[in-house]
Amino acid sequence: MKLQRNLTTLFAGMLLAAPVAGQHVFDISTRPGGDIKDTMYGIFFEDINFGADGGLYAEMVENRSFEFPEHLMGWKTFGNVEVRDFKPAFPRNPHYVTLRSAGHRQKATGLENNGLFGMGIKEGMKYDFSAYARKTNLQGGDASLRVELVGANNNVLEKVTVPVTDNQWEKVTATLTSPKTDPKARLRVYLTSGEGVDLDHISLFPEDNWNGLRADLVKDLEDLNPGIFRFPGGCIVEGTDLATRYQWKNSVGAPENRPLNENRWNYTFQHRLFPDYYQSYGLGFYEYFLLSENMGAEPLPVLSCGLACQYQNKDDDPHAHVCVDDLQPYIDDALDLIEFANGPVTSKWGALRAEMGHPEPFNLKQIGIGNEQWGPLYPERLEKFITQIRAKYPDIMICGSSGPAADGKDFDYGWEQMRKLGVDLVDEHYYKSPEWFYSNASRYDGYPRKGPKVFAGEYAAHGKGTRNNWEAALSEACFMTGLERNADVVWQATYAPLFSHVEGSQWGPDLIWFDNLESYRTPNWYVQMLYGTNPGTNMLTLTEGGKAVAGQDGLYASAVYDKPSGQYIVKVGNSSDKAQEVTFNFNGIKKLTDGKAWVMQCDDPRAENSLENKTLVSPKEIAVATEGNKVNVSVPAKSFTVYRF
Ligand code: AHR
Repeated sequence: MKLQRNLTTLFAGMLLAAPVAGQHVFDISTRPGGDIKDTMYGIFFEDINFGADGGLYAEMVENRSFEFPEHLMGWKTFGNVEVRDFKPAFPRNPHYVTLRSAGHRQKATGLENNGLFGMGIKEGMKYDFSAYARKTNLQGGDASLRVELVGANNNVLEKVTVPVTDNQWEKVTATLTSPKTDPKARLRVYLTSGEGVDLDHISLFPEDNWNGLRADLVKDLEDLNPGIFRFPGGCIVEGTDLATRYQWKNSVGAPENRPLNENRWNYTFQHRLFPDYYQSYGLGFYEYFLLSENMGAEPLPVLSCGLACQYQNKDDDPHAHVCVDDLQPYIDDALDLIEFANGPVTSKWGALRAEMGHPEPFNLKQIGIGNEQWGPLYPERLEKFITQIRAKYPDIMICGSSGPAADGKDFDYGWEQMRKLGVDLVDEHYYKSPEWFYSNASRYDGYPRKGPKVFAGEYAAHGKGTRNNWEAALSEACFMTGLERNADVVWQATYAPLFSHVEGSQWGPDLIWFDNLESYRTPNWYVQMLYGTNPGTNMLTLTEGGKAVAGQDGLYASAVYDKPSGQYIVKVGNSSDKAQEVTFNFNGIKKLTDGKAWVMQCDDPRAENSLENKTLVSPKEIAVATEGNKVNVSVPAKSFTVYRF
């Protein structure tokens, strides 16, 4: 009898272990392998698609400093308004407007601003108005302004009077509370008494901003739990020409005195779709560092290597690049940036950081030199940076680039040069079809383990219509199992681009879309979030029949161990049209406790989230039972799941 019972138990065990036809068995070794870097899953920010001004930067006024080439761009004036630069408030932004009484013939003198795509205001929300003002009254007596929030239907929603009492520049402020929600409001300022007023840096922020950034969009970033934050781009690092490259020193100090810069995305593929796209630098390097710190992400600033955007310029145009012998100011920018981030408060740039409110260092560990450069112009410049950065800051890691392509002549040349120069990380970019992502899930399996590590610094699946749909997101999820399996060589990865305003899109897909009031998270965002919140600390080997699971039968899988929680995490993508039965064998342990899973599934590859339906494609949490050291799961067709035990 006893023997019989033992045999039955044994038989039941064998039934579990022996796969039935069509059943997949994933063997997972539970011995923690190599470390996964904290930087593994991160975010890439660029001011493209109105990601900064008009987006993450919460300033609601366009051209607040009157420094656009047409000084009144974004403004509508009435009455007697003149642009001047005599005795300016801010030397690096010298233009301002003078409002003079229009006399009895006109009702009023003033100006109106529409914001970038209208101003989104919310019922009950407070809005902080500020401006720099100087009365022009020669005879004494004060002046006053009326500041109004005006609704889309032209009704005045809220108004406040602001006295101007000084004939030197002074900051004037007021708070306006919106009585209703209106996605297309505007700001009106006009002179109500006195002879005249000079006005500059006219600004309006919603009260719910975080250090000047839109709170809802900051939350969208925080929830990704990013390990690294690359900024400020992208092509804007390089600039349309050298003069318009991103210069970080212009983006720090008092926001009022940060000089305006053109945005390289002023042009979209040579077409000037958004001629009023400029960078106020209100969101500058100090704010980027603060944001990194807030998200618990390592900062990764990228600086110009002395080459203007290689897409927009010819390599043989001497104006598009700095001579190697004249690179010192560019190299100084890199050295000074490291001092700004990490230097003591007694150093020149460390003192500025402290003055701006952050005496503690930002703990910068790596820097990118050049964005997406290719050809021989790049390595000969990069070398000069490397020599001086290594000499002064031997612990700072340096990221180089392998250019815009995922393979081919320029890519191979780039990698060869990066190895020669001994950079720490190579930034690879790929905007490819979903099919490419599926078939490249093994891309890094054969990469050399010695030499520079990989930073997949810009990637996104571009399917038909380049949409943020489930087809693209699922292919990225499956591809990323290959990043995870190769976390010893891939140290960090950032989807790109990050943001798009729904009315200002220049490049898609993008991770997060927003309008003036709210945002939605794409299916691709949810995939990034699932990786970012379940990164694990150690690689585990996961195989089927001794091979990595990288597309057989449409299945993709990887596994990691998470030291702090003591949990095992398995990620499985199924690109096929059928549900698949899978057993996970956790080898080396006897018993697993029951777990949870987050399942993203959708039959329609074209399904997308939207402002109207924000979570159409999003993860659902389920409980998962275990049996000893095994787990039997049914992996739905067209799905991506993260299991945690
Ligand atoms: O992410 C959009 C652009 O793609 C980046 O600015 C550039 O680096 C790449 O070509």
